[in-house]
Amino acid sequence: MQASELIRKKRDGEELSTTEIDWLIEQYTQGTIPDYQMSAWLMAVYWRGMTTREISDLTLAMAHSGEELHVRETISPVIDKHSTGGVGDKITLVVAPLVAACGVAVGKMTGRGLGHTGGTIDKLEAIPGFRSELSRSEFMHILLKHNIVLAGQSTDLAPADGKLYALRDVTGTVESIPLIAASIMSKKLAIGCSHLLLDVKFGSGAFMKTPERARELATTMVDIGRNAHMQTTAAITSMQQPLGHAVGNALELIEAIAILQGHGPQDIADLCYHEVAELLVMTGKAADIKAATQVVKQAVHSGAGIAKLTEVVAAQGGNPHYIEQPHLFPSAPVQSLLLAPHSAYIAGIHAEQIGFISMRLGGGRFKKDEQIDTRTGLVLHAKIGDYLQAGDPLVDVHARNMTDVDAIRDDLLRCYTWSDASIRPDPLVYEIIHPWTFACDTTIL
Ligand code: URA
Repeated sequence: MQASELIRKKRDGEELSTTEIDWLIEQYTQGTIPDYQMSAWLMAVYWRGMTTREISDLTLAMAHSGEELHVRETISPVIDKHSTGGVGDKITLVVAPLVAACGVAVGKMTGRGLGHTGGTIDKLEAIPGFRSELSRSEFMHILLKHNIVLAGQSTDLAPADGKLYALRDVTGTVESIPLIAASIMSKKLAIGCSHLLLDVKFGSGAFMKTPERARELATTMVDIGRNAHMQTTAAITSMQQPLGHAVGNALELIEAIAILQGHGPQDIADLCYHEVAELLVMTGKAADIKAATQVVKQAVHSGAGIAKLTEVVAAQGGNPHYIEQPHLFPSAPVQSLLLAPHSAYIAGIHAEQIGFISMRLGGGRFKKDEQIDTRTGLVLHAKIGDYLQAGDPLVDVHARNMTDVDAIRDDLLRCYTWSDASIRPDPLVYEIIHPWTFACDTTIL
């Protein structure tokens, strides 16, 4: 088989066989197929899509590219939760410790920033010493001892996704339903949890711009989960504006700590509680969402949730004092306050552009393996629907130097739209997709 032939086939819209997909993924993982050929193939998939059979084959080939943990054979129920990516999305940092604090094990493999979206591992690595590259035995040891583990892509688990993820990030091939579905679900299958909650985001800050596209991605992944006997539910949630106030790695971690301590922004706190409640109901820990929400709130108020985050950080080599005393996180050298240019209601905040601005400040990667600066980012003082007087605080810019602030200032102001009439933000949860929602057998772009 030749990689060039498989690129040509996909470019011309042909369907690849199971053997061809297996070969492609195996050869790329081993380093026989170079990045430039894989990039061309990814771009062909981006434009031509894949059939549901091809997506399933790609997912399985990626899941089988390394070790598989079959976690649910050792501990059950054991949950996993995954977001398709957003701006200011620190939900995993809150949901995972809360679920574990409520008595359900969490075995999570999580990612780095992708395109304009942030990644949980980059955020956790703001903590000195934190290690996300865990061997199979470390993963199981930490999970069994602490009821929670937060691992990154490693060379052991789904290594094909680790390589493809980094390549897609810098080759304009992120926003593809087949590639996103295979990337996410291959990691989930490699771990083998019993229950999975997917947070599928839509809106300006998400890879899926409309609820319809998010629904297509959600049903594709729920379908893969069902075929793999993993109880999978997807929440379709809004990413019309950044989540919460903080955008940037350490800044988001600090906001997640505040939510776990019961004093973070209410909208994102409610979404986190909702996701934890869904997981408690899915795993039979609570009878319904109302009862589950009470359990979650109790875990916040008792301090059990924040204690769990501190515990897992310490278990993975991180300095737990940073969770207990977030002022220890070093600040960016420059903090500059931008003021509201109008007296009006905020009608829109372009989340994708906010994500790119955070990258330009140093919080994301434009090239593979680029070092990020975990200190930089933005803190939004107001959100959609808030009324500001001209001159009120709008955004704090946390930057490496004044040149970076000057370079983004006008673009940042252009992210905002204003209205004289009052505006109501969209609800955060749009729809829940359960395993009985079937994806149709078709080609998915
Ligand atoms: N999250 C992932 O893990 N992979 C993607 O492709 C997008 C979001």
